[in-house]
Amino acid sequence: MGAPCFRTPPGQRIASPHGAKSLGTLETPAMASLLLNDRPVDFAVDPETPLLWVLRDVANLTGAKYGCGSGDCGSCMVLVDGEALASCTLSLAEAQGRSITTIEGLRAPGGGLHPVQQALLDEQAIQCGFCTPGLVMAIASLLARNPRPTDADIRAALTNLCRCGVYPRLIRAVRRLTGPMIAIPIEPAAETAADAAAEPSAEAGR
Ligand code: FES
Ligand code: FES
Repeated sequence: MGAPCFRTPPGQRIASPHGAKSLGTLETPAMASLLLNDRPVDFAVDPETPLLWVLRDVANLTGAKYGCGSGDCGSCMVLVDGEALASCTLSLAEAQGRSITTIEGLRAPGGGLHPVQQALLDEQAIQCGFCTPGLVMAIASLLARNPRPTDADIRAALTNLCRCGVYPRLIRAVRRLTGPMIAIPIEPAAETAADAAAEPSAEAGR
């Protein structure tokens, strides 16, 4: 059985969620194939269509949210080959052949909530929830490449905007998964031969 194919009817326009972009008509869409939440999928959609619109309007995966449309807020983040990227500025053509994971496809290895989702719940780091899908993706991507991030690493990686201001809780949620940063003492410099010679030995002191 071939991959499922999502097709827009000839002439249909895909509008952005807020009508902010005109994406042209789709009389002669090319076919784009990608792995979507671990399933091979074909899209007969204008290849210049932003991935976010394809996910939301064609594939009916509405977890990724439209915030700014310019790659700044992070509410539309999805994993592209494991890296959290804004889907509003990525075209379907750019997503061609890549593995896309949306919040709908994220789960723990054994099933159920992904640990990042559970940590956000446990720390009550979800208020209105609009930014949450993008944040989950950003945290999952961060921890996949850096399992022991410092607070500075976390702040640098999580540039997503949250109007509800859950940032301190986000840090706690990530810390829940990584443990507290423990100060690692700086080892004293290795003893020099002269230091060792100057040191009275335990034997000599007896
Ligand atoms: S909607 Fe994509 S980054 Fe804001
Ligand atoms: S929880 Fe409301 S925008 Fe972040």
